[in-house]
Amino acid sequence: MADAISVRGLTKFYGGGLKGIVAAVDNISFSVAEGEVFGFIGPNGAGKTTTIKILLGLLFPSAGEAEVLGKPAGDIETKRRISYLPESPYFYEHMTGAEVIDFYCRLFRMNAGLRKTKTTELLKRVGLASDGDRTLRQYSKGMLQRIGIAQALINDPDLLFLDEPTSGLDPIAHKDITELIASLGKQGKTVFLSSHQLGDVETVCDRVAIINRGKIVKIGTLDDLLHAGRTVVTLARPGDGLVEKLKSLAERVSSDGELVRFYVESEDKVHSLLEAARGKATLVSVVPQRQTLEDLFVEIVREVGK
Ligand SMILES: Nc1ncnc2c1ncn2[C@@H]1O[C@H](COP(=O)(O)OP(=O)(O)OP(=O)(O)O)[C@@H](O)[C@H]1O
Ligand SMILES: [Mg+2]
Repeated sequence: MADAISVRGLTKFYGGGLKGIVAAVDNISFSVAEGEVFGFIGPNGAGKTTTIKILLGLLFPSAGEAEVLGKPAGDIETKRRISYLPESPYFYEHMTGAEVIDFYCRLFRMNAGLRKTKTTELLKRVGLASDGDRTLRQYSKGMLQRIGIAQALINDPDLLFLDEPTSGLDPIAHKDITELIASLGKQGKTVFLSSHQLGDVETVCDRVAIINRGKIVKIGTLDDLLHAGRTVVTLARPGDGLVEKLKSLAERVSSDGELVRFYVESEDKVHSLLEAARGKATLVSVVPQRQTLEDLFVEIVREVGK
């Protein structure tokens, strides 16, 4: 499949200031395939927003190349096919939700009939169907975020850049927006998602890059990045003698009434434990525990920070 985004040796220096010259993005290379939901994560100041702004043509790189939908970043024709939800979307407070969407529809030169249909459809899609007549001044943070997302869907883009789409949302809004992003992925859209909500990224993304201090320190599919962790083997009513015997195979043992849980590191040890327990206790479950993206993130960013 063709690449929706392709970046080679991309570098951005911000000049001057008290901190001197800062390499916000430092010689990064990566690509995102068409139809992929790609997670771009990293700590504050890592270079995520800077990278997105370069891909949108809002900032010029100091070095390197960036292609978006087969054209150099910033290409005018390509802009019709992409959209952007900025980190802190700025909207005109005196306008109503419906007016804001209508305003952005005008920028895409849509006629009055189409604008009306679009506005109704998009407000509904982001859960603001009954709030279209209220001004943005009366909107909560989550409602503003939803309007931002509606705005990013106006041109039915092939590629969406979402910078922190779920920041400041309550759990329900959060779930709605995450599901919306997943549905965009299912429709075949390419999504470039930057977020500190690693659970969301883990839920919706196909591939992830971790950026730290301007450099990509890890990139791959979630399956490749998140190695299998330990396995929890739960037995019912193992005798005291058996627990004592099995203890050496486990990192940790916990008991809860009749149930005893063994936290086992390797697959070999799981087999040995099951073999030793056979006929002597009831096997309740064997549950592999995958490392989470948060575990990996903390591990990598701490390691690099040392
Ligand atoms: N306009 C600017 N002028 C100077 N330095 C800047 C400018 N914008 C960003 N930087 C610096 O570039 C680096 C990367 O910033 P960027 O906004 O890309 O980070 P980020 O990964 O989006 O962080 P966050 O998670 O906090 O949004 C930081 O060190 C930041 O201070
Ligand atoms: Mg940012």
